[in-house]
Amino acid sequence: MAELSEVRGMSGLLPVLGRWQLLGIGIGAIIGSGIFVIPGPAAAQFAGPAITLSFMIAALGCALAGLCYAELSAMFPSAGSAYAFSTRAFGRVVGWLVGWLLILEYLFAAAIVAQAFAAYFAGLFNIADPSTARIVLAVLPLLVLAATAYLAVRGVKLSAGIVGVIVLIKLGVILLVIAFGALYVNPHHWVPFVPKNTGTWGEFGWSGVVRGAGIVFFTYLGFDTVAVAAQEARRPQRDVPFALIGSLAVCTVLFAPMMLVVTGLVDYRALNVANPVAVAINAAGPQLHWLVPVVQIGATIGMVSVLLVILMAQARILFVMAEDGLLPARLARLHPRRKTPATATVFTALIAAVLSAIFPISLLGQMVSIGVLAAFVAVALAVLVWRRKYPQTVRPFRTPWVPAIPIGAVLVCGYMAAGLPAATWWRFGLWVLLGVAIYWLYGARSRHRTTGPLPRDAGN
Ligand code: ALA
Repeated sequence: MAELSEVRGMSGLLPVLGRWQLLGIGIGAIIGSGIFVIPGPAAAQFAGPAITLSFMIAALGCALAGLCYAELSAMFPSAGSAYAFSTRAFGRVVGWLVGWLLILEYLFAAAIVAQAFAAYFAGLFNIADPSTARIVLAVLPLLVLAATAYLAVRGVKLSAGIVGVIVLIKLGVILLVIAFGALYVNPHHWVPFVPKNTGTWGEFGWSGVVRGAGIVFFTYLGFDTVAVAAQEARRPQRDVPFALIGSLAVCTVLFAPMMLVVTGLVDYRALNVANPVAVAINAAGPQLHWLVPVVQIGATIGMVSVLLVILMAQARILFVMAEDGLLPARLARLHPRRKTPATATVFTALIAAVLSAIFPISLLGQMVSIGVLAAFVAVALAVLVWRRKYPQTVRPFRTPWVPAIPIGAVLVCGYMAAGLPAATWWRFGLWVLLGVAIYWLYGARSRHRTTGPLPRDAGN
């Protein structure tokens, strides 16, 4: 595998991450604002108690895509992740568009999570005075983005260590909610499990479950950051597939019972709030009131690790795209001592801060989901293209049951995306058009490139 080490050595990023750190990065990026905020409104408006099924559909889509990611990131442990896989499979234009979708994913998710952090923080300290709350909600996203950018620049190993500690805290909080919440569940709240459709597509019934899946998909977003960290993994061929699949498995095993508990504690119609888990626990009665601040603290701290991982991932993707001449070369600068993409990290934090100041969360979340679903489809197709064109290339991890798994990923992710509201599709279309315009104005004119279409051993 001389070629792989050449690809990895090229960027100057340091291979320092082990398998548990990679697993922590995956879980650290997944559990955040999503699980503590999004399922409530999705249950209340679209899926009812069957939001648990929505979670399972989202997990299935991610697992199928995750198996495809695992094959490609073990073959090409590049910080460019889906961008680099697509460039190699489909060429520079599609690669740019997939990179543009990853920017939608990480940059906008950073803005969303920074806003959610501020909202949870204000709730934690019971900031009731409206003008103080306004200041906190305006300033805190900027502060948390600045702090996490600073940590991300300090080094990937330090960041992975902090993320690991935070992951243990949030896993503990979720286990407490499941264990203690289960004691107070009233099964009547689960009946009917799939409320009758109102006559409008997506409002309860099976279509509501599918729409719910597209929305809660945001909760799983982030496991793909493990693929971005592949370039800094010590043994990417072995550890990246483990961490990709492992982080999804751990979160799926926790999310389904957590949703059953939340919808079993209170009528799903009461969950259309920004803090549904706290509302559900409160409904259990005074015996569980001690758990509410625990959840709030866990959620608030938990969002810090999501932000940290997302900033790291976005900065590395910008870094690789800049190395390839698709973005200004300045973004491809490494910190001279820390060997982290410092300029791209600060740039990401600045733009995320601006986005979080001007866009409401509700507008951003579904658009992010559709972008990520499209990127997953591209990765699944890239596996099929590579298997067909270069069947002999060394694959340290092989996606099982090809073509069934990649085709399944395309269908399940496509199905979830199709279930999202038309307005989300319009916004997504505008984002893609903007991407095409930027490529035409900038990327198409650049001659510089380092992500070659093929590694040297392709086709051997
Ligand atoms: N999955 C991450 C979250 O839910 C993005 O906050």
